[in-house]
Amino acid sequence: MKRTFLIATLAIIAASCSQPRTTAPDVIPMPQSYSLQNGSFTADNSTTVTISAPQEAKARLQEYISGTLPFAIDDSRKSNCIALVTRDSIDGISSPEGYRITTGSKGITIEATGEAGLFYGLQTTMQLIDNEGAMPHGTILDEPRFEYRGMMLDVSRHFFDKDFVLKQIDAMARYKMNRLHLHLTDAAGWRIEIKKYPRLTQLGAWRDDPNWKVWWNSGRKYVEEGSENAFGGYYTQDDIREIVAYAAERHITIIPEIEMPAHSEEALTAYPELSCTHEPYKQADFCVGNEKTFEFLEGVLSEIIELFPSEYIHIGGDEAAKQSWPDCPLCQKRMKDEGLKDVDELQSYLIHRIERFVNSKGRQIIGWDEILDGGLAPNATVMSWRGTEGGITAANSRHKAVMSPGTFCYLDQYQDAPHTQPEAIGGYLPLKKVYSYDPVPQELDSEKAKYIYGVQGNLWAEYIPTPEHMERMMYPRILAVAEVGWTQPENKEYDNFRNRALTAVGYLKSKGYTPFDLANETGNRPEADTPVEHLARGKKVTYAPQAPYYEGYAANGDSTLVDGNRGAWNNNDGVWQGFIKGGVDVTIDLGEVTPLTTVNADFMQICNPWIFMPTEVIISVSDDNETFTELTRIEHELVMDDALTFKNFGWQGETSARYVRYVARIGKKGGWLFTDEIVIK
Ligand code: ACM
Repeated sequence: MKRTFLIATLAIIAASCSQPRTTAPDVIPMPQSYSLQNGSFTADNSTTVTISAPQEAKARLQEYISGTLPFAIDDSRKSNCIALVTRDSIDGISSPEGYRITTGSKGITIEATGEAGLFYGLQTTMQLIDNEGAMPHGTILDEPRFEYRGMMLDVSRHFFDKDFVLKQIDAMARYKMNRLHLHLTDAAGWRIEIKKYPRLTQLGAWRDDPNWKVWWNSGRKYVEEGSENAFGGYYTQDDIREIVAYAAERHITIIPEIEMPAHSEEALTAYPELSCTHEPYKQADFCVGNEKTFEFLEGVLSEIIELFPSEYIHIGGDEAAKQSWPDCPLCQKRMKDEGLKDVDELQSYLIHRIERFVNSKGRQIIGWDEILDGGLAPNATVMSWRGTEGGITAANSRHKAVMSPGTFCYLDQYQDAPHTQPEAIGGYLPLKKVYSYDPVPQELDSEKAKYIYGVQGNLWAEYIPTPEHMERMMYPRILAVAEVGWTQPENKEYDNFRNRALTAVGYLKSKGYTPFDLANETGNRPEADTPVEHLARGKKVTYAPQAPYYEGYAANGDSTLVDGNRGAWNNNDGVWQGFIKGGVDVTIDLGEVTPLTTVNADFMQICNPWIFMPTEVIISVSDDNETFTELTRIEHELVMDDALTFKNFGWQGETSARYVRYVARIGKKGGWLFTDEIVIK
C-alpha cells in the first residue's frame, strides 16, 4: 500500500516536472526564447562549476567565478554542477554574446561560441537562482538585439569615486550591459590624472562648493588641490587601470570622454593659453587656431589611449558656442588658410584632425551628434542625443550611431511625479517611457537600420550630488535601457517587465544599492491618463498673429488646445504648448451658438527654466467673432519658488456663444507660458 503510494507520488512529480511552465523567467533582460518546465534544479553550496573553454577564457571565467559566485570550480564533476562549454556553433545563435542554457535534474549546461556568451548565460542562471530560488528545467536560447548596450556616467558635475564605479559595473554586468561611458571632463571638474598636464587635476578637479548647483550659481571658481574647502576629486591612472580591468573581466568596455572643443572651462582655467583670449575663467571653447591646442589635445589623448583599450574614444563635440572664434585672429587665420566658410566648419576641422590622430593610434572616435555639423569625419560614430535626427543622418551616410535621445534616455529627468522626488533637471521620464523606446528610427530602411549600433542611458549629474541619489536615478530605469538594448521588440511587454524590475529593485536593495522605490510609484499627472471630452474638441482654433505658439513647443500644432489630450508633469512631453511672444490669444469657433457653463485651461509653472503662470487671463465670447463680451478677467500675482505647480484659470456660469476667446498674458518678468487644453463645457 505504502509502496504504491510512493510510486504514484513519484509519477505525479515526474509528470509535473516535464509539464510546460507558463510563466516567463524572472530575468532582465528577457531572453529571446525559452521553453521551461515546472521542475527545477536547486543549486546549493555543494554545486560546482566545470569549465570547458580555451585556456585564456577559462582562466578569466575561473577568476570571475571564484571572486564572485558561491560555487567551487571542479572540472571532474558530472552532476550537481553548472557546466560552461564553448562550441564552434550553436543552432539559432549568431552572436558571440549569445548562449544556450539546458537545465535538468543533474544540473545546468551553458553553451556559447564565445566567452561573453558563457558569461551572459551565467548571469541569466544567477538571476534565476536568486529570483526564483532554483533554475527551471528546460532550455533558454538567447542573444542580444544590439551590440552596444551602454550607460553614461557624468563624473564631472559631481565626482563619483572608484568604488562607486566598480559597484555599478557589477550591476551592469548582471543585466548584460557592455559599455560604460565615463564623461570625464566638463566645466565642473576634470576627473582623470594626465601626467603631461598636471594642472588639469591640481586646479581643474577642485571647486569651492561640493554642490554643482550652488557652485554654478555663485561664481564657478576652481581651487587648488589640498586647499581648505576644495571639493571634487579625480581618478589616478592606477584607479583607471583597476576600473578598466575590473570591467573587462565583466565584459564591459570603458569608453572615456574628453570634451572638445567646448564644455572645457576647467581645462582652459588650468591652461588659459589654450583659449582664444588666454584669460582664465573667460571661455568654454578651445582656440582652434592655436597649434598648442592640438599639441595639448593629442598629449591628453595619447595618455587616454594608453589607459583605455576601448575601440572608441569619445571626443564630446556638443554644444560649442563658438563665441570667441569670430574675433580671434588665430581662428580667423585658420579659417582662411583652410578655406573654412564658417565656425561650424572650424569645429569640423578640429574633429577631423583629432579623428586622424585617434585613427593613427588604431582607435575610432565617437561624438555627440554636433560632430555632424560642418561635415562628419570619415570614420566617426555618432551618439544621437538631440532627438533621433543625428542617428538617422549618420546611418543614412553609412556611419554607425548609438541612440541616446533625451526624451527616452536622459535618466537625469524626474522618474516620478516631481513633487514626490528630489530636485531633478526637469522633464518626466518614468520607467515605462524608457522601456517604450525602440532605438531603430522608423525613417530607416532595413539596410540602413544595420548602422544603429545600440542604445545608451545617460546619467548627467548636475542635480545628482550623492552616490545614493545617483543610484536612485539609475535603478531601475537603466534596467529598461538594458532590456531595450538586448531584447527583440516582440519579446518585450511592459507589465511583465515592471514585475521583473520590482524583483530587481529588491535584489539591488539587498546588495546595498539605493534604487527608486518602484512599488510606490505615484505615476503620471492624473489628467494626462485619459483624454477629456468637451464642446471645443476638434473645433477650429485661430491664434492671434501677435501671439503664436513657439515652434519648438508646438505640440500638436493648431489643434493642440482642443485635441482632448492633457499634458504630463513636463512641459516638453509633446502635449503642452509653449508661448514666449505675446502670451496666449486664441479664438475657438464652436461652429454654432452653443450653451456654455465652463471655460477652463491649466497652466504650469516651474521657475528654473522660466516657465511662469500668466499674470492676467481674460475670457470672452461672441456670436459673430467681432463683438466680444467679457465673461471674466483674472489677475494673478506670480509667486516665485522652486516647485512645479499647476493652476487652473477659468470661468463658470451660464451663457451661450459661438466663439470663445481665451487670452493669457505673460507678466513683466517675461518667460514662458505653457498650457495643454482649453476645456469648454
Ligand atoms: C549633451 O547632453 N550635451 C550631450
